Amino acid sequence: MSALPPPLIDRATLTLADASATDAFGRALAHWLALNPAHLAQHGFTLWLSGDLGAGKTALVRALLRALGVTGSVKSPTFTLLEPYVVSSLNFYHFDFYRFSEAAEFDFAGFRELFGPGAICAIEWPERVAGRLPTPDLVVTLKVEDEGRLAQCQAASEAGARCLQQAVSTIQEPAAGDG
Ligand SMILES: Nc1ncnc2c1ncn2[C@@H]1O[C@H](COP(=O)(O)OP(=O)(O)O)[C@@H](O)[C@H]1O
Ligand SMILES: [Mg+2]
Repeated sequence: MSALPPPLIDRATLTLADASATDAFGRALAHWLALNPAHLAQHGFTLWLSGDLGAGKTALVRALLRALGVTGSVKSPTFTLLEPYVVSSLNFYHFDFYRFSEAAEFDFAGFRELFGPGAICAIEWPERVAGRLPTPDLVVTLKVEDEGRLAQCQAASEAGARCLQQAVSTIQEPAAGDG
């Protein structure tokens, strides 16, 4: 009799002891995205990043983009609101809505039409546009804890759960040569 696969997890809390752990988490999230281009072409993928200024939201997106092959500069979209990238044949939109004073600015800017098939969207300060964003696949909330960070992750779709599961197992796997 074959064992059942483990049930899909939909939440996880990770301790990121230092900036390199945040980078490793970003790379781990990129893993599932890189392996599932057909899903992304059909459905896209949306990641919400919550947490105070300096919590590591931009750092996490930067690591994710690097792992997806972006080699140029990865700037914070704090002032531009949006930094777009192309990874493989997919659009990657990095938003930061910190400077939005009212959610209606989201409509005026025409951002809604950027979401959907073929688009990976990573959003800092999604709270600023509450009610206007399409539902996310995965929500990561970063909190400062001692010298490091805590990443509270909640999947909101099956794709989000698969991405999270893959990320958690990637992080927990000892690197080759360890032990
Ligand atoms: N796990 C961590 N532990 C300690 N420092 C971290 C960690 N992850 C990121 N950092 C640092 O915290 C800062 C986060 O900045 P940034 O990513 O711009 O924050 P945010 O986009 O949330 O405002 C960077 O200086 C980064 O090196
Ligand atoms: Mg930021």
